[in-house]
Amino acid sequence: MEALKDVRILDMTHVQAGPTCSQLLAWMGADVIKFENPQGDATRGQLRDVPGADSLYFTMLNCNKRSITVNMKTAEGKAVFIDLLKKCDIIMENFGPGVLDRFGFTWEKIHEINPRIVMGSIKGFGSSGPYADFKAYENVAQAMGGAMSTTGMPDGPPFVTGAQIGDSGTGLHLAIGLLAALHQAARTGQGQYVEVAMMDGVMNLCRVKFRDHQRLTRGDLPEYSVPTYKGMGDVPRAGNDSGGGQLGNAIHCKPHGANDWLYVVVQEAVWAAIAKRIGPDIGMPDLATDPHFATIDERRKNQQLMWTLINKFAEKYTKREFMAILNPLDVPCGPIMSTEDLATDEHIRGREMYVELDHPQRGKWWNIGMPIKLSASPARIERSPLLGEHTDEVLKEVLGYDEARIGALKQAGAFSTPPKKKA
Ligand SMILES: CC(C)(COP(=O)(O)OP(=O)(O)OC[C@H]1O[C@@H](n2cnc3c(N)ncnc32)[C@H](O)[C@@H]1OP(=O)(O)O)[C@@H](O)C(=O)NCCC(=O)NCCS
Repeated sequence: MEALKDVRILDMTHVQAGPTCSQLLAWMGADVIKFENPQGDATRGQLRDVPGADSLYFTMLNCNKRSITVNMKTAEGKAVFIDLLKKCDIIMENFGPGVLDRFGFTWEKIHEINPRIVMGSIKGFGSSGPYADFKAYENVAQAMGGAMSTTGMPDGPPFVTGAQIGDSGTGLHLAIGLLAALHQAARTGQGQYVEVAMMDGVMNLCRVKFRDHQRLTRGDLPEYSVPTYKGMGDVPRAGNDSGGGQLGNAIHCKPHGANDWLYVVVQEAVWAAIAKRIGPDIGMPDLATDPHFATIDERRKNQQLMWTLINKFAEKYTKREFMAILNPLDVPCGPIMSTEDLATDEHIRGREMYVELDHPQRGKWWNIGMPIKLSASPARIERSPLLGEHTDEVLKEVLGYDEARIGALKQAGAFSTPPKKKA
């Protein structure tokens, strides 16, 4: 049985941050009703690769959901919303600041309508403080949450990371909050408001950078390959440094293309083995006992030279060959995997992390699978819904409306965009 089988979610989220969360909960078995503006989630039409079909941006974030369109700018639409609120355990949204309030549904009002319901809300910066009124997208959150200032090469500009830590990262945070609040509601009968700000979520993921920020008040950061000093203030960008207690870096391998790199962690325990293996090949048979690298402190001090030597050795090998040399030595390492590498990787396919689906508009396509594996309730991944595909089904099955009532509501424009007025 699915873990969240009896949980029903009124999902007003759009774009990426919210849908990431509701898709995960749907994969855990929740009945997620995607409550859409009659024009649909804007991502349905963004970056379209197949004319007339829902975009991959939409399909990859909205699997296993049902779609209902409701026009919240009509009295009839609001009445349907209220009826759904009474039948759901969770309501979630990630509108710009104040949108739901403008519809007349503050958290207080929602709580009054259904005291058990848990409400999840994602905002760029939360509902309090000087930034509360601002909208946000992924890279704005990465910029303001500390990720960009600490990502990139030391002498280059700040960089965003490819991982969507602002959007998808915030969605993950929200999922945790919602499940905790749901657990509490089961005990107390009372729902609560769960808020995650994208900026807060990114800062949480940059936690170790604030470890280093405070360490800089006491001394330098010897594990960084760039110069640092006591009182420096800002944590510097440190390229591909490991960021942990062990030294690490990306090593360029044959044939030296864009992704021909192996990330190698020179863990304290494995230095001697690495040095014995690579030393003779690079003309340094005594590397393992060389005083420049004998202790971790020495290796930190001389790490640029150490990386140069490891790079020299790696020149003759591909990333997979170098990995095969290091694995028996118990060296933590991994090839830089391109999207193509991953899409065709046996390990990934075996773990159902890249799954093929069918879609009535676009045919075969691929989604990233469910990364959280529950032994008693494995995820069953199903395609995303078409716009309003389940409007009638939800009205009948969840709300118990009959055909006549549905017809009257349709007539009143509860589920559609009003026709444009002629000038
Ligand atoms: C993502 C974001 C920047 C997009 O901004 P946007 O396209 O202007 O969309 P908003 O959420 O501000 O507004 C949605 C509009 O659709 C309307 N709308 C939404 N659902 C509707 C419905 N069912 N019926 C009628 N209208 C609806 C709202 O009323 C609002 O219009 P208004 O401004 O006239 O009130 C903004 O939603 C945001 O900052 N969200 C919070 C942070 C976030 O999640 N960002 C990451 C997204 S991946």
